[in-house]
Amino acid sequence: MDIITIIEKKKNRIELDKQEIRFVIKGYLEGAIPDYQISAFLMAIWFNGMNYKEIDAMTTEMAHSGEIINLNSIPDIKVDKHSTGGVGDKTTIALIPMVAAAGVPVPKISGRALGYTGGTIDKLESIDGFQTNLSVETFINNVRKIKASVISASVDLAPADKKIYALRDVTGTTDSIPLIASSIMSKKIAGGADSLVLNVTVGDGAFIKTLSEGISLAKIMVDIGRSNNKKTYAIISSMEQPLGNAVGNSLEVLEAINLLNNNGPADLKELCLFLGAYMLMAGGVVSKHIDGIKILEEILSNGLAFKKFLEIVKAQHGNVEQISNPLLLPRSKYNSNVISRKEGIIKRIDAEMIGKTALLLGAGRKTKEDNIDHSVGIVLKKKTGDRVRINEPLATIYFNEENRYNLIENSIHKAFHFTNSTLQKKPLILKVIY
Ligand code: URA
Repeated sequence: MDIITIIEKKKNRIELDKQEIRFVIKGYLEGAIPDYQISAFLMAIWFNGMNYKEIDAMTTEMAHSGEIINLNSIPDIKVDKHSTGGVGDKTTIALIPMVAAAGVPVPKISGRALGYTGGTIDKLESIDGFQTNLSVETFINNVRKIKASVISASVDLAPADKKIYALRDVTGTTDSIPLIASSIMSKKIAGGADSLVLNVTVGDGAFIKTLSEGISLAKIMVDIGRSNNKKTYAIISSMEQPLGNAVGNSLEVLEAINLLNNNGPADLKELCLFLGAYMLMAGGVVSKHIDGIKILEEILSNGLAFKKFLEIVKAQHGNVEQISNPLLLPRSKYNSNVISRKEGIIKRIDAEMIGKTALLLGAGRKTKEDNIDHSVGIVLKKKTGDRVRINEPLATIYFNEENRYNLIENSIHKAFHFTNSTLQKKPLILKVIY
């Protein structure tokens, strides 16, 4: 078996068998196959896709590239959650404490930024000292004691995903159904939870642009979950504009904290309640979705979700003062409003452009070695459907490099599209598959 033949098979749309997929994953992990050949392999998958058998084999191989966590020592049904990613998607940061405060153990395995979308691990690292490379033992203990813990793919846990994910991030191979499905499900299998709630985002600001592709991805992941004995719900939601207002690491943590104080943007709250209620159903705490929503609303208004977040941050060695006083989170040197040059109603906000602008500011990586600037980003002042007058702010840019400002400002203007007629509100939640 050799890697060139395997790349050529994928290039020529010939099905790969389990052994060939194992050869690639193992070879890359052990350093026998270099980045450039795996990049070609990933790009061949991007163009030619994979069938279910191949995706399943790739998922199993990546999941078993490290430890499979055994959570049997923790009573109750453990529920993990994952999003396929999007611009401004900070749902995980708010959901973990909300659901844990409702009594469901949440062992959460998260990823870093991918392409122009942010990642939970990078966002949480905006909090001084917050550790996501916990040992498996500490992870299990934390879930047992405080009902929640967040770790990243690591040398112990789905290491093949960690390595391939970092390469996809910088090789234009993020938006591929087989690569997303195997990346997410390998981490979920390695993480050992009993049930899964997956948020498949579709639209301009997501890797998956259309509902029909979102349904395909959701079905594949639900099937893989089921064949691994995990009750799996996939909720497809719209990412036609950034979720919430903030885009950028510490700014998104701040927005999640606001939600935990029952003060977050309406769309973020709606999605968190919807996903969270499925997590409560998956965890056996409620049997009706509406009952889950009621419990979570209560937990947001009585402060229990915020308190749980403080506990999680403390258990992961983060600076809890930054949570109680978010002004202490990393802040950029400069900020400036982008002022509207037009009048009208916002018809569309190009989420991909906003995400790419945040990347330009330094909120994501352009090469594998890049460091993230946690302090920079964009806060939208207007969302789709809002009326805007000339000279009203469209967004605030948080930045550290003055020389990039004009470029960034222009991108923000280009991202906003106007109309003169009122708009029908589009639904945020599009479909549930299980
Ligand atoms: N999240 C992941 O963990 N992997 C992907 O490929 C996309 C989102």
